[in-house]
Amino acid sequence: MKIEDVMNICVVGAGNMGHQIAVCCALAGYKVICTDISQEMLNKAEGFAKSYLPERVVKGKLTQEQADNALANLRFTPSLEEAAGEADFVIEAAVEKMDIKRKLFADLDRIAPSHAILATNSSYIVSSQVADATKRPDKICNMHFFNPALVMKLVEVVQGPHTSTETAQITMDLSAKLGKIAVWLKKEIYGFLVNRILSALAQEALFLADMGIATPQEIDLAVTNALGHPMGPFRLMDLTGIDLSYYSAMERYQTSRDPKDKPSPLVVEKYTKGEWGKKTKKGYYTYE
Ligand code: CAA
Repeated sequence: MKIEDVMNICVVGAGNMGHQIAVCCALAGYKVICTDISQEMLNKAEGFAKSYLPERVVKGKLTQEQADNALANLRFTPSLEEAAGEADFVIEAAVEKMDIKRKLFADLDRIAPSHAILATNSSYIVSSQVADATKRPDKICNMHFFNPALVMKLVEVVQGPHTSTETAQITMDLSAKLGKIAVWLKKEIYGFLVNRILSALAQEALFLADMGIATPQEIDLAVTNALGHPMGPFRLMDLTGIDLSYYSAMERYQTSRDPKDKPSPLVVEKYTKGEWGKKTKKGYYTYE
């Protein structure tokens, strides 16, 4: 397969990442079907596209024609069969739970055409952990976007030991077609590049907050004003989801059994209270 053969894209998951990845692909001219088991999430995603695209026209960032074409390219359905049945490329952006992803990949392998590449947007589950649930491991890789996916330029393409170079190359090419800057990781590593660097920063920030040295808000003020980051680590956790910080730390701890990999007390407290950040309207900050 070549990049020119990719026309239909299926995005699995209409959550934090999936809805924006779907709009990104539709803006690049692909026919996109976004699917989710939750009709409520699909309605929210469709509502987002219908308000975001006209807003970009008003802002002068898109022409009316570009916005209309993107909307016409985009469909939402709860049926995985309908969404993946004619896909040339699938981007899985479902919940970060291993058993769910393995089941999804087995289903996608059954449903999607045999030439289709199945990529996971997972930020920490390497694709070798799902590739063996399919009969096409050479067509499985990580394609990792950043939040908000419509804004952040980077995509990490991770080639596992099972991933063919052709699959990684097409994924790199697709990222470029979406207007992204892609980096090609030739080996799998937990957290890839960016989240490894980010988690070092977040771990230190959580340690300082857990020790009562400063509040999360003060630590954010320090990082934004001294290091020039657009947001501090706590506001960023609110954006990406404190539930995700919890799951990724648990996943890491279950693999390493190293107590220092356990989620920090503050993350456990927020996770348990259901204060997961922007998506629940409360995390380290409160949102309207
Ligand atoms: N969705 C879509 N577009 C958005 C957006 C959103 N949620 N939030 C902001 N934007 C757009 C705005 O429309 C605006 O676009 P234009 O300039 O083209 O008009 C632009 O972003 C700037 O927005 P604002 O002026 O409102 O706000 P800002 O300057 O504070 O930028 C931000 C907001 C882009 C989120 C910026 O704060 C930022 O870059 N933050 C850091 C984000 C980051 O580090 N992301 C990586 C997270 S790690 C991760 O994603 C790992 C993972 O595995 C999930």
